[in-house]
Amino acid sequence: MSRELIDADIRTARTLPSRYYTDPSVFEGLKSVFNGWQFLAHNDELSINAMLPIEHLQAINGESVVLLSDEAPRVLSNVCTHRGMRLVLEPCTKKTLQCRYHGRNFSLNGTLRHMPEFEQSIGFPSSADNLREFPLKQWMGMHFTTLGKGMELPWDMLEKRLGFLSPESFTYDAERDRDHTVEANWLLYVDNYLEGFHIPYVHPELNQALDYSGYITETFDGGVLQIGKATKGDITFDLPQGHPDEGQEIAAYYLWLFPNMMFNFYPWGLSVNVVMPVSTKRCRILYRGYVKDAELAGQGAGSELDTVEHQDQWVIEEVQKGMASSAYDRGRYSPTKEQGVHHFHRMLSQFNQAP
Ligand code: FES
Ligand SMILES: [Fe+2]
Repeated sequence: MSRELIDADIRTARTLPSRYYTDPSVFEGLKSVFNGWQFLAHNDELSINAMLPIEHLQAINGESVVLLSDEAPRVLSNVCTHRGMRLVLEPCTKKTLQCRYHGRNFSLNGTLRHMPEFEQSIGFPSSADNLREFPLKQWMGMHFTTLGKGMELPWDMLEKRLGFLSPESFTYDAERDRDHTVEANWLLYVDNYLEGFHIPYVHPELNQALDYSGYITETFDGGVLQIGKATKGDITFDLPQGHPDEGQEIAAYYLWLFPNMMFNFYPWGLSVNVVMPVSTKRCRILYRGYVKDAELAGQGAGSELDTVEHQDQWVIEEVQKGMASSAYDRGRYSPTKEQGVHHFHRMLSQFNQAP
């Protein structure tokens, strides 16, 4: 009988074998995990530009889509049905979708409107000439799409917990845009995100703002929620009456959704990180920031974002080098501090049944 790669009991489980971080065939085998829900943009970005080509989705799973606001938001294929030119190449406020290659024109619901020099074609246009529409999920002001082959995510449960923050009213701040290349496997970026165990060692500044002993990790189907408690007198959320966390001094909610999306809620607003796999030893991280209260942005747990980010990147790049060692294969989990990493590894190994 085959045993599970990652034991359900964290006290006996061993971590992912190092080949998960180094072997190109494992890297390829895991690509299907990106076919489920993926973050596109916040509604404030869509209010600035009516058409947003989602470049990072193309980097993640190869799909070229455009998020646009017609009467309602829609996600359409961004690939012309003639010979495959990408239609929208940069965010814009245009009201028509016209291909820049040979002039094919689509209405904003994706139906073909006009194509020059096709009068003599037979059986044209047909439904195959329209742009494919992809599913759209709107959640707390954010838009997501899916290739339809991933797990369902517990949107309602999370909205009950975090909806009091009203992220749908936050303002997009382009100054906070970042796109970093990290010389490490994407799994290492996620592993590192899913534990606060390293905070005292890697992030001395953040450690001042968080009460490390009060750090909480909750796992659920589809993700992990980590709750950072504030040190005395530091800035915290105003939790409404009856909220499950009422009475606690919370400095940050760190939400990860499978497999590569991170939503960091702070009293000042929200930062989103999306991890893009590039190769066994390289990934890219997209950052977006949405502000609720600009005055709070310099205070508390979310104020040193760039510093914290560089510290994380430094440590995971060193871990990537460690993964190539013949002397290291698997480690063990801390039962009290690494529940999130254990949960992620179990989800991954269940996806990737290959031994
Ligand atoms: S590829 Fe778009 S009109 Fe030819
Ligand atoms: Fe960190």
